[in-house]
Amino acid sequence: MAKILLLGSGELGKEFTIAAKRIGQTVIAVDSYKNAPAAQLADFAEVINMLDGKALDALVEKYKPDYIVPEIEAIRTERFYEYEKQGYTVIPSAKAANFTMNRKAIRDLAAKELGLKTAAYRYATSAESLKKAVSEIGMPCVVKPLMSSSGKGQSTIKTEADIENAWTYSQEGSRGDVAEVIVEAFIDFNYEITLLTVTQRNGETLFCPPIGHRQERGDYMESWQPAPMRNDVLKEAQQMAEKVTTALTGCGIWGVEFFVADNGVYFSELSPRPHDTGMVTLAKTQNFNEFELHLRAVLGLPIPEITQERIGCSAVILASENSDNPTYSHLEKVAASPKTDFRIFGKPTSRPYRRMGVVLTYDKVDGNISEVTEKAKNLVKHVKVN
Ligand SMILES: Nc1ncnc2c1ncn2[C@@H]1O[C@H](COP(=O)(O)OP(=O)(O)OP(=O)(O)O)[C@@H](O)[C@H]1O
Ligand SMILES: [Mg+2]
Repeated sequence: MAKILLLGSGELGKEFTIAAKRIGQTVIAVDSYKNAPAAQLADFAEVINMLDGKALDALVEKYKPDYIVPEIEAIRTERFYEYEKQGYTVIPSAKAANFTMNRKAIRDLAAKELGLKTAAYRYATSAESLKKAVSEIGMPCVVKPLMSSSGKGQSTIKTEADIENAWTYSQEGSRGDVAEVIVEAFIDFNYEITLLTVTQRNGETLFCPPIGHRQERGDYMESWQPAPMRNDVLKEAQQMAEKVTTALTGCGIWGVEFFVADNGVYFSELSPRPHDTGMVTLAKTQNFNEFELHLRAVLGLPIPEITQERIGCSAVILASENSDNPTYSHLEKVAASPKTDFRIFGKPTSRPYRRMGVVLTYDKVDGNISEVTEKAKNLVKHVKVN
């Protein structure tokens, strides 16, 4: 049985761990705090700062894992190249993890090297150079720190007066030691999707039905599957996903994000691991959920096909306050609703807007996706985390 070093132990890592334990694998769950969701279920748990290369090295040395599986972005991913040289398997690959943790690396690869259509973009390293970049891109435009996730440090510039604040805000939200930002033209998209893509060690690249989602404050609020879209548009997204995952190399599941506008599909970014919007697959919308697919790809087990079994929606349960003993009210209301389920991640503490669980709704394949989504959206309003 394989030994899996899971770097990041949040809700996505927890479901991955459940999938792994179901088929008898060994999981070492790592995070920066004790009792993280996946750590509650794994065989072993470790608490380290994953941006600390020496601490990472020590864990790899201690466990000698068969697979190193990152669950988050904020890891000293440069070390992954060294682990690969030593014969370790990094999922999906050192290159994928390293390129996607920095918006510059992945954007230049996608736009310049692979020729994928993206929003027009520039980089800036100061308020002054931001001004110049904005004048080249035009307004409105979106500013993001090169190293950040979940919308941290991200803002939209609508007028010249916003530029100074956008720079300051980006510096507060930036992770790591890089001060640079990317400035992107604002895409007035009709909808956005995550295309879960699975690359296999010995087998073709597979695609899950597209997932639609709605974002607020840089985090997703609801995700639904399938996202209704034209087949030719989906095909275009699939080709782009295949190109970028092939260039990044390795096997596993990827969450490839696209904007769909009147004038076509824009590649936005991707995660080389399960995607938060992919939690909708916990509503059994597919023959295998995204965590089971990731696990099979990690272990090199064949995935003969991905089939859609239901339509579904996930709506996030957010905390409203700080607590070191969060409690959940009105889950009975959710439980009493037919064709509905929920997950509580078991995070030991809460803070405003922290994601604590999801409500899942579903229907048969020929059901109405808007109705299923409205239902999840309404049910989640009842749940309060205190
Ligand atoms: N150029 C753009 N034009 C229009 N909307 C955008 C643009 N860039 C980002 N957004 C909106 O902001 C959301 C978050 O952006 P992005 O995915 O780049 O950031 P992130 O911090 O990496 O988010 P996450 O890590 O949660 O995926 C997008 O899903 C989209 O809704
Ligand atoms: Mg994103």
